[in-house]
Amino acid sequence: EKGGYDYFMLKEIAEQPKAVADTLLGRIGTDGRLTLDELRISDADLRQVDKVVIVACGTAFHAGMIAKYAIEHWTRIPCEVEVASEFRYRDPIMGPGTLVIAISQSGETMDTLMALRHAREQGAKVLAICNTNGSTIPRESDAVLYTHAGPEVAVASTKAFLTQLVACYLVALYLGQVRGTKWGDEILAVIKELGDAPTLIEQVLETMEPVRELARGLADARSVLFLGRHVGFPVALEGALKLKELAYMHAEGFAAGELKHGPIALIEEGLPVAVVVPTHRGCTVLHDKIVSNIQEIRARGARTIVIAEEGDEAVVPYADHLIRTPATPTLLQPLVSTVPLQVFACELATAKGHEVDQPRNLAKSVTVE
Ligand code: M6R
Repeated sequence: EKGGYDYFMLKEIAEQPKAVADTLLGRIGTDGRLTLDELRISDADLRQVDKVVIVACGTAFHAGMIAKYAIEHWTRIPCEVEVASEFRYRDPIMGPGTLVIAISQSGETMDTLMALRHAREQGAKVLAICNTNGSTIPRESDAVLYTHAGPEVAVASTKAFLTQLVACYLVALYLGQVRGTKWGDEILAVIKELGDAPTLIEQVLETMEPVRELARGLADARSVLFLGRHVGFPVALEGALKLKELAYMHAEGFAAGELKHGPIALIEEGLPVAVVVPTHRGCTVLHDKIVSNIQEIRARGARTIVIAEEGDEAVVPYADHLIRTPATPTLLQPLVSTVPLQVFACELATAKGHEVDQPRNLAKSVTVE
């Protein structure tokens, strides 16, 4: 049942191109526009949305953080994202124009379920993004957009995460499409690029041997830091979470701009620091800033592991290890930049002799608050 792989996690990482393709299937029309008839929220209602609030836990929360960048950019609707366990206890402000998006692979996460119940009690509409047909979260929501990752068995989420990203992009792009924002042309171009994502993910998977070798060499490291900017920031958090879960190792993700506000004090000789570099063709100011962040940490002794898109030459002089990902539109980059971090964590944990499918203390579905 592991399809020839030693672990479900390896199988599920390898299945990502198909999972993403299946999640896109039937949702991009021949005219290049999106059709999400299954949504059960009318276009008229979507035009009335004045605020989006995303609730989720763990890896799904990281997908939500990335969705915020996409939703605000393409739709100009203010978007908040919050860990589900914090949401209802702070008396959040919602109204009839609030669209709450609850993201969950299992559809049974109690924290997320309680957050969406609270949202509905306050009069908000809830859209679930879920991978499990007929589970509690979609049943209790006003609408659902299913991800088609197929069953995810390994406790550490991989293919579910990439498909959650796809679903979030679809919602963001669809909101932009029905509301006719000034980004109309960009939206059409991105829909097209989204269709190419399975091929790009496949390309990344084919080039992972150096990442595995690097991970094996770091099995004795005490700590690994992850830095990112823009959508690379949630990707950094996700890379750190994977390493904590699987390798039981101290790992921390930071927004690279926060370095100087404290975390730079952690940098010492030989400390591995992975840096997720935003696309260099997107925002050059942002890109320049992360290049100087890499210089700063390297000057203080960090061993830099740089994840950057093909053609980005500015990072080369400061990368002790360079991991290339194919070029994508800025907001879609997490679809490719997350994959090396999944492989890295899985390989490092295996090198330490850990059982990656069933990490200690964790359950696949967390049904208690
Ligand atoms: O089933 P859900 O997507 O609601 O689960 C949320 C988290 O418990 C889950 O993503 C968890 O963080 C994973 N173990 C991460 O790999």
